[in-house]
Amino acid sequence: MKRAKVGVLLSGRGSNFLALHGAIERRGIPASIVLAASNQADAPGLARARELGLATAAIPHRGMARGEHEAQVLKALQEAGVEWVCLAGYMRILSPAFVVVFPRRVLNIHPSLLPAFPGLDAQGQAWRHGVKVSGCTVHLVDEGLDSGPIVVQRTVPVQEADTPESLAGRILAEEHRAYPEALERLLTEPWTVEGRRVRFSEVDSEPAGAGSRAS
Ligand code: GRF
Repeated sequence: MKRAKVGVLLSGRGSNFLALHGAIERRGIPASIVLAASNQADAPGLARARELGLATAAIPHRGMARGEHEAQVLKALQEAGVEWVCLAGYMRILSPAFVVVFPRRVLNIHPSLLPAFPGLDAQGQAWRHGVKVSGCTVHLVDEGLDSGPIVVQRTVPVQEADTPESLAGRILAEEHRAYPEALERLLTEPWTVEGRRVRFSEVDSEPAGAGSRAS
């Protein structure tokens, strides 16, 4: 099966990037990470990508207009031949102009069960709200904030003894499962978007492949 060319955008430690990379290597997900790019030149995730021998790009945003920075990121992705973009702790909001370049091919992971608790510190928001179950969501990125069609969710029970930090740690462990699962399903199963719903075909009598993917 043809390997999808994935570009990862990250701003920090990059544990979700590493989970994706590891799962692609181990599980044979038909993808290759052709670029890891960051707006933070000193992001630990970018250093790990370099150690892994991947192509990397540091594109600092400081002192640059939002549109100009985004254009540079887009150029780097396009020059690397990226087909799918995975946001992995990328702390910049993407404009609609960016998202339309990769229609339904930009993924994000968020540490709550969306649509609950979008935005920053989702784990702390959930903990303070007193929910008994939280989790993580992988979704297609649209023009809103953490608002696009949901691909995969995994739940995490909130325990009495939890702090925001302990809850975040258990959610992160589920993130590392959810993100590869979402990418794998999108690349290997037929799917469509109906309204807001990502629908994977329940009965798949045809071999999964790029040709059977919905656009
Ligand atoms: C994760 O919690 C992710 O859900 C959120 O940002 C965090 C990034 O962590 N979008 P890491 O850099 O992947 O370790």
